[in-house]
Amino acid sequence: MKYILLAAIIFSIAMYSCGNSSQNNQGKNADTMLESAPSGEILFNQNCKVCHSLNAAASSGMAPVLDSVKTHWIDKNALASFIKNASENKNVNAHTTALFAEWQSKPQMPPFMGFTDKEVIAIAEYLYQHAN
Ligand code: HEC
Repeated sequence: MKYILLAAIIFSIAMYSCGNSSQNNQGKNADTMLESAPSGEILFNQNCKVCHSLNAAASSGMAPVLDSVKTHWIDKNALASFIKNASENKNVNAHTTALFAEWQSKPQMPPFMGFTDKEVIAIAEYLYQHAN
């Protein structure tokens, strides 16, 4: 009888520690999910779509249609910097100067300083994939 009790105790301890380690694994998985690259599409839909369209037929008239980003922004990092702070990049090249002149009568593009580098790069990649 003593042995059965002892065996039961050992069994319970073993189950408890297994339960614990699987909880730890779950914690790790959640962390990994948070660290994985955010979806450029989701970030675009949440922050940009209110003004920008990816195709001319669906333009809001509020902001340039982003269907030719690849032509104007060959450098992905330059595009990411622009997305983070457009007004600071107003005169980085002839294209941006002309763009601001063209859209000056509309509400200007707000800064998105809260984005991490990973997030703006994800948005830039999304735009490259969907622009001509
Ligand atoms: C309030 C409207 C508004 C929002 C929101 C907005 N933009 Fe803009 N965006 C503009 C305007 C207007 C311009 C033209 C420059 C200017 O006058 O500010 C522009 C310019 C751009 C350009 C340059 C286009 C070209 O032809 O080179 C890119 C790229 C861009 N925006 C991306 C984004 C992204 C990505 C987001 C979301 C993170 C965003 N914008 C959010 C209004 C907006």
